[in-house]
Amino acid sequence: MKYEELAKKAIEAKEKAVPTYSKFHVGAALLTEDDEVIIGGNIESASYGLTICAERTAVFTAVIEGKRKFKALAIASDAEGFTSPCGACRQVMLDQCGHDLDVVLVNKKNELKIYKLKELIPHSFDDSELR
Ligand code: THU
Repeated sequence: MKYEELAKKAIEAKEKAVPTYSKFHVGAALLTEDDEVIIGGNIESASYGLTICAERTAVFTAVIEGKRKFKALAIASDAEGFTSPCGACRQVMLDQCGHDLDVVLVNKKNELKIYKLKELIPHSFDDSELR
């Protein structure tokens, strides 16, 4: 699948988000190695700290569905510019998707910025330390 198409799925996924308090919609679309797309959206809690980001809902949904290998994760939001994943999501993406995941950011003009996850979380803590 082309990353433009994956980005479109992230934009569509924003509609599923539940940003009750911030009203800031974020959508994510995670591409598996066999070209399946699993979406996520941010879901907020009245106990604000329990909010979960779009990226983590996508990753956790995919993992519990038995998906284990991923090519890319696209992220779209209500912001004019590019929304980059928070630190907690970067760690979870690293845990489940690995350093070589492509992170595809899409802005309101449908422009893409693509990074390797290892660029976004350098000097990371990963499972190699636990072996
Ligand atoms: N949020 C995400 O879902 N992903 C990001 O990459 C940045 C922040 C959510 C969390 C919260 O629901 C809202 O955006 C405002 O922080």
